[in-house]
Amino acid sequence: MAPLDKTAIFLNAVYILVQHLHTNKDLPDTELKLLIESPEYEEELFSQADAVRREYYGTDVYIRGLIEFTNFCKNNCYYCGIRAGNNNVQRYRLGKEEILSCCKEGYELGFRTFVLQGGEDPFFTEALISEIVVEIKSLFPDCAVTLSIGEKSRSTYKAWYIAGADRYLLRHETANAEHYRTLHPDSMSLENRKRCLWDIKEIGYEVGSGFMVGSPYQTTEHIIEDLRFLQELQPDMIGIGPYISHQNTPFRDFKSGDLHTCLRILAIVRLMFPYALIPATTALGTIANTGRELGLQAGANVLMPNLSPVQNRKQYELYDNKICTGEEAAECKLCLQRRVSSAGYTIVTDIGSVKKEQYKS
Ligand code: SAM
Ligand code: FES
Repeated sequence: MAPLDKTAIFLNAVYILVQHLHTNKDLPDTELKLLIESPEYEEELFSQADAVRREYYGTDVYIRGLIEFTNFCKNNCYYCGIRAGNNNVQRYRLGKEEILSCCKEGYELGFRTFVLQGGEDPFFTEALISEIVVEIKSLFPDCAVTLSIGEKSRSTYKAWYIAGADRYLLRHETANAEHYRTLHPDSMSLENRKRCLWDIKEIGYEVGSGFMVGSPYQTTEHIIEDLRFLQELQPDMIGIGPYISHQNTPFRDFKSGDLHTCLRILAIVRLMFPYALIPATTALGTIANTGRELGLQAGANVLMPNLSPVQNRKQYELYDNKICTGEEAAECKLCLQRRVSSAGYTIVTDIGSVKKEQYKS
């Protein structure tokens, strides 16, 4: 009998492990740890994740127009560049008309989802946000409105849903309570973050959650807890991007998250949540020039280019050296189109809803 080829045996074991995740959408913790930490599994992981995204979404890439409409925030998350305690930020707010003109420009460029994101800014009351949502929906009835403005009461989430908001993004940041306390001041809690997510889901929004990869004090065990929490929540959108240091935060001396760990986690998430809308984040494109293309090839299917006025982009700096702060929206779209097609996918003009129900077994 011919001697056993060790490489072939190893490759076969890798294939079986990834295939197991693919088929069962789950693995025991020890195997997940192996996949998260080992570069040797990457090729197989990316290839199966890409096959799954093609099965559900073909080569379509959905674009969301991100409107960063306020950088005022009452919170003090230790990692975040626009935290209240950063006195070096020039603060700004967009008025309703400015927000609407960002949407108009976006609509002409083919965007069918607008994401209104900002710090937790009490200036934007429940009534004011409702008014803005109603107006966007009446001017662009074929578009989705996504809100990403932090932790609110159930009744406020409900009011915005009734006003017409379709989706809500709120990363849980970390599912481990102790780790949560190392990233946030005592005024914030994981318990409330989770309460918000369950409220958002129960009200009927398409819900997005997620976490940063490589945030200070994060361990692989924390990441596994994050995946377990996502399994409970079954969100429609899952935002995973690297933590990147910002010079004016208490975490300035921590190193940023690692590109390849981030890509492996994206691929794992695609295999665990085949139906999910997963962005290749701007943060991924910031830590590596082709980060977003690699993200798409590891299973991501959404991009969130900036529609905010160019003069405000630099002021919404969550982390150092954030990309795409100088270009007009039209230039961004062209640049992204080139990048996406070089990676083998196509940007589509589509509201881009989740394909969860169609595939329910
Ligand atoms: N205030 C809203 C909230 O808390 O969900 C939305 C704005 S917040 C800036 C959006 C996301 O930015 C956060 O959920 C966090 O994961 C991410 N973020 C903040 N600081 C970051 C950093 N230094 N590196 C990478 N991502 C960061
Ligand atoms: Fe509020 Fe970052 S601390 S948006």
